[in-house]
Amino acid sequence: MASSSLPEPPQAPLPLSEKVKVKTTWPIIPPSADRTPIRTERLLLRPLTAADAEEVYGLRNQPEVMIWTMVGLPDKNVDETHVFLKRFLPPNDLLTYHTAIVYMGDAGENEDAKGVIIGTGGAHRIRPETGWPECGYLFRKEYWSKGLATEFMQAFTKFWWSLPRKEIELEVDAASVKERLESNAGGVVEVPEILMAKISRINTGSRRVLEKNGFKEYARWSEQDARVGREADEVALAAYLLEAPET
Ligand SMILES: CC(C)(COP(=O)(O)OP(=O)(O)OC[C@H]1O[C@@H](n2cnc3c(N)ncnc32)[C@H](O)[C@@H]1OP(=O)(O)O)[C@@H](O)C(=O)NCCC(=O)NCCS
Repeated sequence: MASSSLPEPPQAPLPLSEKVKVKTTWPIIPPSADRTPIRTERLLLRPLTAADAEEVYGLRNQPEVMIWTMVGLPDKNVDETHVFLKRFLPPNDLLTYHTAIVYMGDAGENEDAKGVIIGTGGAHRIRPETGWPECGYLFRKEYWSKGLATEFMQAFTKFWWSLPRKEIELEVDAASVKERLESNAGGVVEVPEILMAKISRINTGSRRVLEKNGFKEYARWSEQDARVGREADEVALAAYLLEAPET
């Protein structure tokens, strides 16, 4: 988890030592200016902008939300939220596909909540040098346990696999492609692309969101907890993967 009190670079690479080179595909990420918002039954997923800082701060100042992040602490002020947002704004938009998750309300209900940013989520690391693209999400606590994260991930993963792709050779954690390697004999093996997620093993809500969207656990490990004030503890983590659907 994070080593800084500021929202810092996307998470460190997994401490899984065995790597393997594979042939796979890689998404071609459009700049945020060219992204079309995605509508679900209750949500709108749209590109984040610098102007969202105030609203996103309303999410990132909640200790109950931030305890599950690498940082472990709420943003102290809107300036810290600006630093977080910069990860996803040009020119970093080409290395991430993170969205503002806007609650549009159920028909006829919660009209007050229409148009409010209740979360952020998507792929926060899309760098071939660090392996598979990685996804994640945060929701305001008032909106938990309504099926919204599941709804978000269902739409996001469907969209993710619809992006255009190119072929690539990539070094990845061997554990993520173990089953594929076993059924092949030597050479650089061709494998379906993977979208991965890393979670704390005690984060039941996040685990359920992943499982309900077809993700499977592929690695478990413990490492020093880098969240401020918890450095003396170990934290138990798990990595999940979702394979690209067969075409
Ligand atoms: C984790 C989080 C995204 C879940 O969002 P959510 O909108 O409440 O999730 P959903 O309503 O779609 O629930 C999905 C499942 O998880 C379960 N769940 C949700 N929160 C839970 C909790 N705190 N404890 C146990 N189960 C929980 C739901 O009951 C549901 O399970 P079911 O369909 O099998 O009954 C949200 O709690 C959150 O933002 N937490 C803080 C940040 C975080 O942990 N992000 C993930 C970091 S990897």
